[in-house]
Amino acid sequence: MNILVKNAKVIDPSQGTDGICDITIENGKIKEVRKSGGAEARKKTNADVRTSAYAGFEVIDAEGLLVVPGLVDMHVHLREPGFEYKETIRTGTEAAVRGGITTVCCMPNTKPVNDNAGITEFIINRAAREGACSVYPVGAITKGQKGEELAEFSIMHDAGCIAFSDDGRPVMDSLLMRRALEYSKILKALIISHCEDLSLAAGGVMNEGLVSVTLGLRGIPPQAEEIMVSRDIALAELTGGRLHIAHVSTAGSVEIIRAAKKRGVADITAETCPHYFHITEEVAAGYNTFARVNPPLRTRADVEAIRQGLSDNTLDVIATDHAPHHMDEKTVEFDNAPSGISGLETSLGLSMKLVEEGVLSLSQLIEKMTLNPARILGLLSGGTKGTLRPGADADLVVVNTKDEYRVDPGGFRSKGKNSPFDGWTLKARPAITISNGRIFRWE
Ligand code: DOR
Ligand code: ZN
Repeated sequence: MNILVKNAKVIDPSQGTDGICDITIENGKIKEVRKSGGAEARKKTNADVRTSAYAGFEVIDAEGLLVVPGLVDMHVHLREPGFEYKETIRTGTEAAVRGGITTVCCMPNTKPVNDNAGITEFIINRAAREGACSVYPVGAITKGQKGEELAEFSIMHDAGCIAFSDDGRPVMDSLLMRRALEYSKILKALIISHCEDLSLAAGGVMNEGLVSVTLGLRGIPPQAEEIMVSRDIALAELTGGRLHIAHVSTAGSVEIIRAAKKRGVADITAETCPHYFHITEEVAAGYNTFARVNPPLRTRADVEAIRQGLSDNTLDVIATDHAPHHMDEKTVEFDNAPSGISGLETSLGLSMKLVEEGVLSLSQLIEKMTLNPARILGLLSGGTKGTLRPGADADLVVVNTKDEYRVDPGGFRSKGKNSPFDGWTLKARPAITISNGRIFRWE
């Protein structure tokens, strides 16, 4: 189907586009993005639409709306195979497009673990049949994510794994992590590190501090993350491998990454998630299990440091770490609840708050949700994802930035209703998402 999106305010950091444009889509690809600012140009487009120039086009009038490339979320748990009661590839990708996300990377902590080409192919095939958006599997670093033996990187890479991670768990053995980075270098694949020193975390369930003491819960000090951030940067230096640090949650981690980037030592990148720049350990007060997440929510000072790290580009990417869980699993004692937040459908609205609050410019924010993850994943070369360049996949999101709405997890497409942002008032909301040329419309 051919599509014309007209009179949109388009922001595309990949081309420095910031203005009123018409976008044409043909055969599932971006054909052209043309400036349409000014009354004359607008009149011409409207006249062309009435006549034959756009015969057979689906016309979307985006006047007064923002259009950006489809968001790229490089950290998502789709749960299939094995945990379909929490989420499936179908429901997870439907939640993604509802959130304006058209590309997701899915983490390997499924059952069985995605540590072999058979599982990778299963995910790719199911996503092709049932997925609402593009899905790129992340393979496990170690077999069964047990941290003992490397998985078959090369075979999994050939099968379609775009990166490797033991996310959900760290690779505690430094020699194994060294080898993983060495292989990643040969394959030009990315290693995504879940930074957590398990011995120091010592079975903790929330941030170590006043709140954990008050609640009588075992705490995890920020150093459990920071030690591993330091180690992995050292190993990236040693090997020259491509390291991406997942879900940064502490001020100390931001500082370590900033210093490493400044030294120019290694090809490292890092991400954080909306919960780490909006909420603190205080949300866990009252034993709110929706605030249990790994790494844990930290302090106000950490939140401020994460914001600063985003602002000065120490942190390259905003990802969700979408971690849906069943309500029955979360409706238990804090100690027994699984970690995770359902994030796909609040990511854009929560992130846009950073623009409203003056932390990031709009184009800087969009860069961290489109161009940067696409570039880090190698999806930009050839111009397929994270960009509105001619020839790119027809992925974009039309955002209503004016109407306020309340977050209602009951209405999520995701099976995971576990959100600590229930009842928050947000502004930016996708009105239409175009994913690989398919139109999803809600307003
Ligand atoms: O909170 C989290 N949930 N952190 C992780 O690292 C894993 C994830 C999950 O799979 O539920
Ligand atoms: Zn994760």
